[in-house]
Amino acid sequence: MNKDLTNILERLLYEHKWMERVAIKYIEETLSYYRDKGIDYEKYIIPFLKILEEELLTPHYRFEEETIFPLFPDDPFVEELKEEHKRIEELVNKFRATEGGLEVLEELSYLLNEHIDKEEAELTAKLKKLIEDDIDLIK
Ligand SMILES: [Fe+2]
Ligand SMILES: [Fe+2]
Repeated sequence: MNKDLTNILERLLYEHKWMERVAIKYIEETLSYYRDKGIDYEKYIIPFLKILEEELLTPHYRFEEETIFPLFPDDPFVEELKEEHKRIEELVNKFRATEGGLEVLEELSYLLNEHIDKEEAELTAKLKKLIEDDIDLIK
């Protein structure tokens, strides 16, 4: 079994778990709190988004784009994932610049969920296939 690919798959799954359990949960909680109470939620969510972006999203996308995606050259699915990374970044920036408010946060929460589900279903399957085939692609 290819140890490098196994490590890559484990890191991918670990980071997704962190995003689902902490990041997305926090955004969803904040959204429901805002809908119920109508508080000024921006002061709570903007600092969180800064940490989310710097500590998790940016390093995670770099990891996927530099280490995982090149394993599947010319794959339209990977191109689609790259576009979603860009869209997620745009939404974070838009919200932080207070140009969208609640609708932007709702779209961000939805897209983050969709993106992770898609990668968990298809990207992990592609990686597992490489591991099964025992292809030594990592130098
Ligand atoms: Fe991704
Ligand atoms: Fe991901």
